[in-house]
Amino acid sequence: MTDSRLAIVVLAAGQGTRMKSSTPKLLHQLAGLPILSHVLATSRALDAAHVVTVVRHERDLVAALVAEDLPESLIVDQDEIPGTGRAVELAVAALPEDFEGDVLVVSGDVPLLNSATLASFVAAHREREVSATVLSSFPEDSTGYGRIVRSDAGGFDRIVEQKDASAEERQIAETNAGVYAFSVAELREQLARLTTDNVQGEKYLTDVIGLLRDAGSSVRAVPVADAWLVAGINDRAQLSETARQLNGFIVHGWQLAGVTVQDPATTWIDLKAQLAPDVTILPGTQIRGATVIETGAVIGPDTTLVDCEVGENAVVKRTDATLAVIGAGASVGPFSYLRPGTILGADGKIGAFVETKNATIGAGSKVPHLSYVGDATVGEQSNIGAGTIFANYDGVDKHRSEIGSHVRTGSHNVFVAPIRIGDGAYTGAGTIVRKDVPAGALSLSVAPQRNMEGWVETHRPGTDAAVAAAKSGD
Ligand code: UD1
Ligand code: CA
Repeated sequence: MTDSRLAIVVLAAGQGTRMKSSTPKLLHQLAGLPILSHVLATSRALDAAHVVTVVRHERDLVAALVAEDLPESLIVDQDEIPGTGRAVELAVAALPEDFEGDVLVVSGDVPLLNSATLASFVAAHREREVSATVLSSFPEDSTGYGRIVRSDAGGFDRIVEQKDASAEERQIAETNAGVYAFSVAELREQLARLTTDNVQGEKYLTDVIGLLRDAGSSVRAVPVADAWLVAGINDRAQLSETARQLNGFIVHGWQLAGVTVQDPATTWIDLKAQLAPDVTILPGTQIRGATVIETGAVIGPDTTLVDCEVGENAVVKRTDATLAVIGAGASVGPFSYLRPGTILGADGKIGAFVETKNATIGAGSKVPHLSYVGDATVGEQSNIGAGTIFANYDGVDKHRSEIGSHVRTGSHNVFVAPIRIGDGAYTGAGTIVRKDVPAGALSLSVAPQRNMEGWVETHRPGTDAAVAAAKSGD
């Protein structure tokens, strides 16, 4: 049910300077989704009466993501005044004037925080009837975080940013997680008092806490259960560390759901992937995007699947596949490259050193060795000989090849598209098929073989080859 007394502010306007990236920080990927998407999903789950997302850096890209993931969010543009305090000031100004209740502020770059933790944080804030509650944390490395300064009596006094902190304050282990609950009236009042009088020349949201304390209001810091929940991503080292942490949870979740993951450390599974019980994942495997894997399938080692479907009991070994559908009982790899539009039927085979693209290969059909299959349809129970090239490109346009069912093609064929090979047809080794082959025909295009007897004796006399030939009984 919608919480009519809750408004959420998502901070997403910062530049993310420390990423040193042309991609906005919040659009970097984490388990297959932009960092900000994780925060938007968590915010959505809280079902607040109002959500406001503040944007500025690369605002169109960030706003487009917000519109897609959390369409109920208002989007507010931050102006040239920098800082989290300014961002919240503008967000709060966008709330209805008669809104009474609590404002939950979350950072777009703190993606692992879940909605259960946030819900109990808001509940704790409301129970104590304080003006503000800050989520705090005791991370292993507090570098970069604001520190929670407590009075001698242990009460919460203020937050000091790392860059403004004294050497002594930097020793404080308790840090600001960047998540706050405020009662809106007092927040409004103190935001108006913020200045940019600090090392970074920004309006710090954290200064609101000190101002509230000065005004005699009560504030609390509540430590989060686990520091990883509030890990912030500021640079690429933190990005990979957070990704590893999240991946660990995802893999563990699938293990508990009945998936065998032999080596969690080298297995990466995106959040949107779906795996059935009794799937086996071997080391060095990435299951990316919205990949779906049915029961009994064995994936890996060293396989990357992006937005693929893999049927029951299929085996996919040392393969790179994107937007491919692999049928039940089919076999792929080792060393196969399945490009978008590959559809392999049940019990089919795409073998070693085979590349496919826009290719439908029917049930039971096999492309076992060293081939390229592009823009093609192969019927059922056909076999494509080793080293076959579907020549789909005439230099200007792409054309399709259609191979029927129960076809047997020889090794080292070239199918010059557009062509059709009828059901049950055969082709000889080395055939270059330029014209359609009727059902049941044998197609040959090679010149008849000619053996010039004694050629080595006359043209290469005295060579090892000539000696060997002379010794041979043949
Ligand atoms: C902030 C806190 C710090 C805390 C840390 C937790 C402040 C002043 N400091 O520091 O105490 O320990 O988070 O992760 O708040 N943003 C805007 N507008 C801006 C600047 C930032 O919307 O003008 C957004 C960013 O996009 C980001 C979030 O606010 O999502 C935090 O900004 P960031 O610059 O990363 O703050 P930190 O230095 O990490
Ligand atoms: Ca941050």
